[in-house]
Amino acid sequence: AFEVELAQSGRTVAVAAGQSIVAALAGAGVAVEVSCEQGICGTCLCNVLEGEPDHRDEYLTEEEKAAGDQILLCCSRARSKRLVLDL
Ligand code: FES
Repeated sequence: AFEVELAQSGRTVAVAAGQSIVAALAGAGVAVEVSCEQGICGTCLCNVLEGEPDHRDEYLTEEEKAAGDQILLCCSRARSKRLVLDL
């Protein structure tokens, strides 16, 4: 489990084990546009301001994954306790 902080509103949302970031945000009333929900299409791409993503998608290149400043919210998770998202 980890938490995501939404930089634009200052809200923090907990993401439970086995729950996607998109699902956690939806539960908090924050809608994120999704399409494939499998890490393939890139619709749910979001910028990461702080924290270390745990990439589970097939969309970003290895180089982009290593840079750690973008995340696919439908499937990827966090290695750090907290991610700050540009949302
Ligand atoms: Fe397609 Fe997230 S909805 S990559």
